[in-house]
Amino acid sequence: MSSPAVKVNSVEYHLAALLLMVHSARSAAYGRTIRLPKGLCSRMHVNLLKQVQDLFENSYGTLNHLASVRRFFSPARINLIGEHIDYCGGLVFPAAVQFGTVIIAQPNGLGTIRVVSINEPGKVEFDPAGALQRSTPTHWGDYVKGVFVEYGKVNVEVPGLDVAVGGDIPGGGLSSSASLEVGIAVLIETFTGYFSSDDNFANRQALSWLAQRAENEFVGVNCGIMDQGAIALGKENHAMLMDCSDLSISYYVVELGDYSLLIVNSCKQRRLGESAYNKRCEEVALALSILQPVFGISTLCELPIDLVNDALDRIDDPILCRRVRHVVSEHDRVSQAASRLSRGDIEGFGKLLNESHRSLQQDYEVTGHELDTLIGLAQRQPGVLGARMMGAGFGGCGLVLIKTSSIEQFSEVVGTAYRAEIGYDAEFYPVEIGPGAREIMSTNNE
Ligand code: GLA
Repeated sequence: MSSPAVKVNSVEYHLAALLLMVHSARSAAYGRTIRLPKGLCSRMHVNLLKQVQDLFENSYGTLNHLASVRRFFSPARINLIGEHIDYCGGLVFPAAVQFGTVIIAQPNGLGTIRVVSINEPGKVEFDPAGALQRSTPTHWGDYVKGVFVEYGKVNVEVPGLDVAVGGDIPGGGLSSSASLEVGIAVLIETFTGYFSSDDNFANRQALSWLAQRAENEFVGVNCGIMDQGAIALGKENHAMLMDCSDLSISYYVVELGDYSLLIVNSCKQRRLGESAYNKRCEEVALALSILQPVFGISTLCELPIDLVNDALDRIDDPILCRRVRHVVSEHDRVSQAASRLSRGDIEGFGKLLNESHRSLQQDYEVTGHELDTLIGLAQRQPGVLGARMMGAGFGGCGLVLIKTSSIEQFSEVVGTAYRAEIGYDAEFYPVEIGPGAREIMSTNNE
């Protein structure tokens, strides 16, 4: 694997531990908000690494054969704009971030895969060559098993492994599932030496599609390619203008001047598998089947924005009309966003975020009271240029474009008002855009 290894040295580790103490004190002082000063965020996974390592040792014994231990970091992702259109063949604009999943693994000589998590109780154990079944209801281990099943289909033989995982990804909407899937896929390729292509980019594309199949076919969620693609192919400080029809990517430096991106977590729980996500996929597939013969399109996102009214005239069902209007207008906003960002038109970019939220709320109907309250509050604050829900929706996180100097006041005011309306706290996290999933080193095994 030629992806860059990130060296974690002990100075960085102690600095992170110190900063985390400061952070905890601040969180306690502010009560309802978690505010991570820039610079701290990128080191969050150092502390996570320590927790996962402790779990590994408690579960499987001390790391005796240090040379055979491998460590990985697989990020979460944000999406600047382009929501619920990846499965309609559209352009989306995601980026990998500082939060993610740490995975530590070592061959166990037993032929079985054993997995423990700092986030969930219990141990998952299975034979990677066996006939694996999804659990009912869906269990976190299914996201791991599904990836092994997909590598099995391309005849990759994986040795027995002891694995510990742990994530620090806030709320829903940042794709903790794809973070785990892609991390496991990178682990499998590292331990087996299986690469589908000598070309790094092509290999990571194939890995993304494989991880997506694991979620579609094993877990049973019909997600698009955005999350796995963003996590496998992310680049530091860059957003990815990703064409979901072929996973080609143009990388854009994210230069926001005096502005920052802030993740706002509604703290409303949701589970993608149980949500209306698959229902939306069915609705747009139905709409496509009506429009395909008329317009000669093979995906909904091929429909040009200036034909949207003609298209809506062909559909009787008002719900399907709203879904199509969201997909086509959101797709148009993605290209506009990329060109505004590259011209430095931050204000114009912010307006598109607001329009995107309105469309997701009224036409695609994937927001809900908590997200609408949070985003509505956010959009009214001084220094905010735009805000919208992010990811699948139905709860989870949103994204706010805000003047950096306004973040502190924003967290206080929005935090207080959100609690008064919803009855529990929201959380706020400044975004750092980082690289995609990779093996990481530790001074412990050098
Ligand atoms: C989830 C899915 C993605 C995408 C988003 C909505 O995160 O996994 O494929 O559809 O929702 O944009």
